[in-house]
Amino acid sequence: MNHSVFSLSPSPSVFVIVLLLFVQVPSSLSSSSLFTDCSNQFVCGDISTGFPFWGSGRPSACGIPELELNCENNITRMNIDQVAYRVLEIKPDIESLRIAREDYLAGLCPPQFANSTFNPKVFDPVIGYTNLTFIYGCVAAFIGAVPLPVPFTCKINDTNYGQSGDIKGGATGPGDCYGSVFVPVPFTNWPLNWNVTSLEELLKEGFEVRWKVDSAACEECNRSSGVCGINNVSNQTTCYCRNQSSGSKTCALPGSTPIADQAGPPPPGMCLNFSSNQFMNSSPSTA
Ligand SMILES: *[C@@H]1O[C@H](CO)[C@@H](O)[C@H](O)[C@H]1NC(C)=O
Ligand SMILES: *[C@@H]1O[C@H](CO)[C@@H](O)[C@H](O)[C@H]1NC(C)=O
Ligand SMILES: *[C@@H]1O[C@H](CO)[C@@H](O)[C@H](O)[C@H]1NC(C)=O
Ligand SMILES: *[C@@H]1O[C@H](CO)[C@@H](O)[C@H](O)[C@H]1NC(C)=O
Ligand SMILES: *[C@@H]1O[C@H](CO)[C@@H](O)[C@H](O)[C@H]1NC(C)=O
Ligand SMILES: *[C@@H]1O[C@H](CO)[C@@H](O)[C@H](O)[C@H]1NC(C)=O
Ligand SMILES: *[C@@H]1O[C@H](CO)[C@@H](O)[C@H](O)[C@H]1NC(C)=O
Ligand SMILES: *[C@@H]1O[C@H](CO)[C@@H](O)[C@H](O)[C@H]1NC(C)=O
Ligand SMILES: *[C@@H]1O[C@H](CO)[C@@H](O)[C@H](O)[C@H]1NC(C)=O
Ligand SMILES: *[C@@H]1O[C@H](CO)[C@@H](O)[C@H](O)[C@H]1NC(C)=O
Repeated sequence: MNHSVFSLSPSPSVFVIVLLLFVQVPSSLSSSSLFTDCSNQFVCGDISTGFPFWGSGRPSACGIPELELNCENNITRMNIDQVAYRVLEIKPDIESLRIAREDYLAGLCPPQFANSTFNPKVFDPVIGYTNLTFIYGCVAAFIGAVPLPVPFTCKINDTNYGQSGDIKGGATGPGDCYGSVFVPVPFTNWPLNWNVTSLEELLKEGFEVRWKVDSAACEECNRSSGVCGINNVSNQTTCYCRNQSSGSKTCALPGSTPIADQAGPPPPGMCLNFSSNQFMNSSPSTA
């Protein structure tokens, strides 16, 4: 469990790994340029962040595939499960980010419907938030579970469905209506005391999700003056070093040897649980 302890007497597998490192180097970007690239912070407006995010000046090797950030006019955006979000805040210390749906920033009638879903292998929900479902296109007057002091209506693709909006707690489907969208919102005292304006404000506040990274391995890399990244072949956290090839968990400090990645399953404490947490789960079966 203690990864700072490693054998100083080289075992056969260490030789194999050292050999592999030299074989790999010419075929990939040298680690020192990834060291330089991944040392860049992503900076956009008030947002400034590094691993496990990538985007702008940070190539994909600097972060988790799902955590790509885009910057435009000092506004940070990211797509999660095909939904565009505005990134309001990143809290690296608790590994959480606060995001708001870009479509609902303009009101309660998004042009396209999509639920806010999150790959549980990459994201964890944060306590204090709960789903709210917006139900659209109920042709008949709909007696909802939530009283609507100010009914909201949405024109859906040029069809005006009349007084058709409904809102329910939890993640539910549209029932007899045209469509539905669920979004996490802060757990407040709704539905007792809200109207369209206050709901819009609630959505603008956004909600938090946590990304799943065990920071211990990155801290170890950081302490050795390396920068963390993701090996795009193994999908494992890796450490990029000045003047060194990649493939190590840490960088060599003067007078020492770097800790080589182990050939077997990643040791406990590696950044992500990549042994079970393969991103390939989201792509079609390759077996
Ligand atoms: C992995 O990264 C290397 C160098 O950064 C790049 O040449 C290669 O195309 C990448 N492979 C994949 C599958 O993304
Ligand atoms: C972004 O913010 C910086 C610093 O606040 C400012 O100097 C710059 O003009 C802004 N850029 C845009 C496109 O708004
Ligand atoms: C409106 O129509 C477009 C094009 O057919 C479609 O992509 C979109 O999902 C529709 N919007 C809704 C809310 O159904
Ligand atoms: C919202 O609903 C989805 C699907 O049921 C669930 O996975 C997710 O954890 C819920 N989010 C919150 C904040 O309750
Ligand atoms: C959102 O999720 C609900 C419940 O799973 C589903 O019935 C509904 O069709 C989904 N909406 C969209 C736009 O996918
Ligand atoms: C909407 O609700 C908020 C808070 O509950 C209240 O301050 C505001 O006056 C209400 N607006 C309307 C138009 O009813
Ligand atoms: C290590 O992390 C600290 C705090 O996040 C950061 O200021 C520092 O630049 C990092 N060191 C390296 C070598 O990236
Ligand atoms: C990296 O290598 C260059 C050229 O060989 C050298 O000038 C530089 O001092 C080295 N940097 C470190 C941190 O070893
Ligand atoms: C990590 O992976 C192992 C082996 O696949 C699995 O048993 C375990 O539940 C995973 N842990 C987490 C926190 O996902
Ligand atoms: C790494 O992630 C990519 C992109 O999600 C996926 O296509 C690939 O199969 C994964 N590779 C491994 C070894 O898990």
